[in-house]
Amino acid sequence: MQGNFTGAAAPVLLRRWTMTLARWLCALAASVLLLPAAASAQDALTGKRLYLDAGRLRGTGVSCVDCHGGLPGGAFGIGRAANDAAAVERAVSSIPQMTPFRSRLTGSDFADLAVYIGQPSVPSPSLRSATSGPATTSSVDRLDFGSLALPAQAGRSATSRWHLVNDGAVGLRIESGPQLRGEHPQDFQIVATDCEPQRMLAAGASCSVDLAFRPDASAGTRRAVVFVMHDWVGGEVALALAGTAVPAAVPPVASVDSGGGGGGHSLGLLCVLALVAAARRWWRVRRYGLERG
Ligand code: HEC
Repeated sequence: MQGNFTGAAAPVLLRRWTMTLARWLCALAASVLLLPAAASAQDALTGKRLYLDAGRLRGTGVSCVDCHGGLPGGAFGIGRAANDAAAVERAVSSIPQMTPFRSRLTGSDFADLAVYIGQPSVPSPSLRSATSGPATTSSVDRLDFGSLALPAQAGRSATSRWHLVNDGAVGLRIESGPQLRGEHPQDFQIVATDCEPQRMLAAGASCSVDLAFRPDASAGTRRAVVFVMHDWVGGEVALALAGTAVPAAVPPVASVDSGGGGGGHSLGLLCVLALVAAARRWWRVRRYGLERG
């Protein structure tokens, strides 16, 4: 019986070991191949955002791109830190020009930066502004509504449209709907928009903001800025707005002076005609009176 038992148990144990080994190999393969690959595209993107925008994101006032330029190549041999988080950390702690970053970057920042330096072509979002409508100007970051006579017709100008286009290869997230700021935000109006907070703007997608100039009753030039916040470099995209409210033209009053010398002549003619008519009436009455009498 003992022999039989051992004979039956051996294949079971072997199967168990094989399974364990297979699981272990799978886990190893996943951790070596899959996980870093999945994480690295995201890390490279995070690193790119930091490389281009550390000044704002970490409050350092200056970003890597300001000194090292756009990768690849990059100034000051930054390429040597590709996939080497320790090299980035060393540079930050030892290079005098990089002191603003000391104690502002975390371990995962160093790692993300190193992954980006090693993978500079990582696909990323790219937000572009465009405008359409009557207020379109030559500049894509400005809408000029021109002059609007007071009181504004229907209270406001015709609408023009601001397009936010993601030309990049990766989506970005809209963080806030459009808002107005600047000198005269109350004199412009967001008429409609589909750039809603938390909306993902996929690669190639766009959203838009319809805007109008709606000055109050006083004449003068108005300026404001409309902006939308997002989660990519710069954190926001903005468009300058301008418009001028002018007093409504006073309707011309009919006047004998309005035609200049011609006015004087026509007045004389009218007088002559009136005199002639009166004389004829008087003559007719006189004749009638004579005939009757
Ligand atoms: C104000 C300018 C400035 C800014 C901003 C800056 N660096 Fe540097 N960095 C330098 C200079 C200068 C050197 C080279 C110093 C030398 O070689 O003596 C350098 C060197 C480096 C090196 C070392 C390259 C090597 O030889 O191994 C790395 C890595 C690096 N920077 C990464 C970064 C990163 C990442 C950022 C952004 C977080 C950044 N730097 C921001 C000026 C700057």
